[in-house]
Amino acid sequence: MFLSTPSLRSFSEVFGREALVVARSPGRVNLIGEHVDYQMGRVMPFAVDRYIDCAAAPISEPEIRIWSSSIGGAPLRMALSELRPLDGDDAWANYVLGVIAEYVRSGVEVAGFEAILSGDLPLGAGLSSSAALESVTALVIESLSGCAKSPMERSKLCQAAEHAFAGVPCGLMDQLAVNHGRAGHALMIDCRDLTLTPLPLPAELSFVMVNSGVRHALADGEYARRKADCESAASMLGLTTLREAELSVVDAGRESLGDRLYRRARHVVTENARVERFAEALKNGERAELGRLMAASHASLRDDYEVSCTELDVLVELATDIGAVGTRMTGGGFGGCTINLVPREQAATFCNEICITYQKRQGQAIEAFTVEPVDGAAIL
Ligand code: GLA
Repeated sequence: MFLSTPSLRSFSEVFGREALVVARSPGRVNLIGEHVDYQMGRVMPFAVDRYIDCAAAPISEPEIRIWSSSIGGAPLRMALSELRPLDGDDAWANYVLGVIAEYVRSGVEVAGFEAILSGDLPLGAGLSSSAALESVTALVIESLSGCAKSPMERSKLCQAAEHAFAGVPCGLMDQLAVNHGRAGHALMIDCRDLTLTPLPLPAELSFVMVNSGVRHALADGEYARRKADCESAASMLGLTTLREAELSVVDAGRESLGDRLYRRARHVVTENARVERFAEALKNGERAELGRLMAASHASLRDDYEVSCTELDVLVELATDIGAVGTRMTGGGFGGCTINLVPREQAATFCNEICITYQKRQGQAIEAFTVEPVDGAAIL
């Protein structure tokens, strides 16, 4: 554990005193079950050993001061009575400000504090830095105000904050993954009844993230448009959500749905089925089946859901050629990372090779690294 932690050192450098509390949140990666959480589907994320830390201490003024190591400069300040979303260069703070506003709205007495954020979780890379920022803020508020929430309640407050302050109508997957993570396990989450089933992950496989370097911005409206498409498709089929749809029902409605809504609905329905099958294949150690399902998930996200991009498609193609057990884009899409299942003894070679072959083909340097499934967010 790094309680010597860079965040404690930065806190005293920035604010000239000691921090009282440090919260740490992992990021998350999703194995399969993409763009189905907001349609009450099944997802299979795990928390990863890349983190955001928040070191904080109370102040007597009724305001918030936050400083981020990736931004630098002077701390951002906002009065607790005037909490509002920011735009432009300050928009990164919305994940923090939104959570504070949500806790205040839920009746928690939030007093002034100053905080610094730091860590090694890349931002905008599809590893859910947003949910990590939200969760460390929530933990700090809970710790300073003495109001402990359950990880489920905390996840819901963080999701509400993202809706209200970041303008992304996200599902609950990321917040659940970073708050409920269990070392060595993925979480199969049924977003309809919010049951979480930990599934042991095979120790002989490594999870390699390959970062396309394309920064995704889900707030630009594409994410919201996909969600709206699903809602229209469900309602045209006479359903509340696409979770209830069988493929035969979607097929039967093809003409009335029209091409775009038909393909969106087909993605959600087939992806839900793939998650279930993936859980069985994990349990039975069916490697080839894991790979087949990940390939089908990627193709569906690329062709039916249209949330991939050239860089991610090239990475998936190269990983397949190099011999990954499974590979696909992960997270919201439009950039970010691919997740690759690779035999542990080949992971280092795989990381090397994919970076070299990608650079040759696309003329762009990229980064590949392994992640391990870890426990969820906590106060250190
Ligand atoms: C983002 C959202 C999640 C989920 C994924 C796609 O990460 O925050 O709720 O919808 O995209 O699976």
